[in-house]
Amino acid sequence: MKILRIDTSVTGAESASRLLTQATVDHFRARYPEAEVTELDFAADPLPHIDPASMGAIRFPAERHDEAMRAVHPVERAVLDQFLASDIVIVGAPMYNFTIPSSLKAWLDRLGVPGVTFSYSEGGPRGLAGGRRVIVALSQGGLYEVDTPFEHHESYLRDFFAFIGIDTVEFIRANRIGFGPDARQQSLAEAQAAVARL
Ligand SMILES: Cc1cc2nc3c(=O)[nH]c(=O)nc-3n(C[C@H](O)[C@H](O)[C@H](O)COP(=O)(O)O)c2cc1C
Repeated sequence: MKILRIDTSVTGAESASRLLTQATVDHFRARYPEAEVTELDFAADPLPHIDPASMGAIRFPAERHDEAMRAVHPVERAVLDQFLASDIVIVGAPMYNFTIPSSLKAWLDRLGVPGVTFSYSEGGPRGLAGGRRVIVALSQGGLYEVDTPFEHHESYLRDFFAFIGIDTVEFIRANRIGFGPDARQQSLAEAQAAVARL
């Protein structure tokens, strides 16, 4: 059993999403004591934006790689392989300007790879990366219900993961974090109860 935890919040100890990714890791550690847990913190140690070298390294066959692509290929491929080797993926995703943090997008840009995590056919796109659980801890300063105007957060992650074959992302939602201590506490208590039900 391999668990991969991703954090992206920039608010450190104050972070609602980190509290929930930690609670989720603890929940699964208790259930699967033998689990190997890998933790990545893209706030402390971000992946760079994709560039010509990383794009080609991930998406082109080896015979089309130039020197720059060859140099980054091992590390780029490792990001993808780490995701594909995971049985449970736990993602902390604060809402930044109505959507996910750019550090999380940089990771997703390395996961959506034609021929590896999806393919196109006559019948349209087909996801190839199913067979793992993806749990996303969402945090919002306000309250943006999924698929309402300005909401490009939960719906975006739902659609991204569905595209690569993970149809049922499990969302843990903390919202109204900016509405004061009472609202924050109530929302976190509800979210932690949802973690216990995973
Ligand atoms: C750069 C930035 C942009 C934000 N944009 C939004 C937003 O569009 N909508 C919202 O509800 N909250 C927004 N917030 C508030 C965060 O979503 C909220 O503080 C949340 O709790 C952050 O997650 P964290 O507690 O894990 O850090 C923003 C915060 C930051 C730092």
